Amino acid sequence: MTQQQAKGSYDAKDLWQKDKNHFIHPFTDFSVFHENGCDLITDSDGIYVEDAHGNRFIDGIAGLWCVNVGHGRAEIGQAMAEQATRMAYFSTFNNLSNAPATELAAKLSELAPAHLNHVFYSCGGSTANDATIRLVHYYFNRLGKPSKKRILSRTNAYHGTTYMAASLTGIASNNWQFDTLDLVTHLSEANCYRRPEGMSEAEYCDHLVDELEQTIDRLGADNIAAFIAEPIMGAGGVLVAPQGYHSRVQAICRANDILFIADEVVTGFGRLGHFFASEAVFETQPDIINVAKGLSSGYAPLGATLISDALYAVLSTPQGPGGVLSTGFTYSGHPVSCAAALKNIEIIEREGICENVREVGPYLESKLKTLASHETVGDIRGSHFMMAIENVANKTTKELLPVDARVGDRVAAEAQKRGLIIRPVGHLNIISPPLIWTRQVVDDVVAILDEAFAATTRSLKADGYL
Ligand SMILES: Cc1ncc(COP(=O)(O)O)c(C=O)c1O
Repeated sequence: MTQQQAKGSYDAKDLWQKDKNHFIHPFTDFSVFHENGCDLITDSDGIYVEDAHGNRFIDGIAGLWCVNVGHGRAEIGQAMAEQATRMAYFSTFNNLSNAPATELAAKLSELAPAHLNHVFYSCGGSTANDATIRLVHYYFNRLGKPSKKRILSRTNAYHGTTYMAASLTGIASNNWQFDTLDLVTHLSEANCYRRPEGMSEAEYCDHLVDELEQTIDRLGADNIAAFIAEPIMGAGGVLVAPQGYHSRVQAICRANDILFIADEVVTGFGRLGHFFASEAVFETQPDIINVAKGLSSGYAPLGATLISDALYAVLSTPQGPGGVLSTGFTYSGHPVSCAAALKNIEIIEREGICENVREVGPYLESKLKTLASHETVGDIRGSHFMMAIENVANKTTKELLPVDARVGDRVAAEAQKRGLIIRPVGHLNIISPPLIWTRQVVDDVVAILDEAFAATTRSLKADGYL
């Protein structure tokens, strides 16, 4: 792509320097950052974003799995502006509320599985998960079961980075040199690609379910409050569990009085072709579903915990005179964020965006699978608009390339040179686009990726890694 004049009033060089001097970025590799600083993304339109030099890219990651309806939606901006000028903020604590938060709670209850009719707002995915665990502990305390505290999560799960959410997260590198709370037990992730040699998918499912049952026996159901899982594990590598896994897990949880929490921060709001994937795709009826990201398509920070009627009956039992449910955030049910979410949902419904995902998603899956012929491509997996490619040194043994080969970064850089942003996560590359991609866009993207993987193989060979 050619370097063009910086857009608008941005001075690209000045911004780059200020950013390098002052902005502590989340998830930053300082061995690279100190040298290279950041790419500044300054403009956006539909499926495209532009950097501060005017280079245009297809957005292959929907910002960060979130810009589901695509960029530059003026009507969302307008809804937010109208709300901000009418009443930007007022408390929702106690007996106060605002119109967008109320409308959105009713709308979410209508869209969610039938038994989920109560909404607790937060500021994003981490705070949704954090608030959820507090509410779950409170729930069991109110029921007179205070020993039920432990949460079952899974290795490689990603649930965020507040203290509790980071403790739920099972990606070891995410917590390197960070501390976690001793409230969580991690079960094995469901990783079909790297399942034990010689095990069928059905046997693998049995194996994972056995592990859950043994863990419950070991810890004691009386000490376990909840199980939390992403329907498809996202940042941990887009891992699709074996058929029937989630519903079997839920049945065991139910039999042991363990709440089943679905973290649909990524899978919700259309990414798998439905507003919520739990029931529509995985045939589960979670006690709690957490959402964020696509809820507002990233136009404003927002998270929500959707709570079942049965749980609400306990949470809403009066404590006695003056006693209140003492949890929440200043920005719980922020009117501008809720106005953005309402308009976002209107767009998803009006434009048939879930239907587009159900139509184009399988096409994306099948086209990406044509990349399997590349020497480093070991696995191409995922579902609909949630896909990953796992790079390996040897397809038969599934051995990984050395970490310093930075294979995911190489593929992403080669794609970016050709006008496409995808996400490197270690040896993986993740593709999680806005949900408005068409078949034509998929064709263009896969052509770019084809070149990017070929160039990566050449560079790995030139550097002696292959
Ligand atoms: C499944 C899942 N849960 C929770 C989170 C945390 O969300 P946030 O970054 O908005 O706090 C993420 C973020 O990627 C996620 O993928």
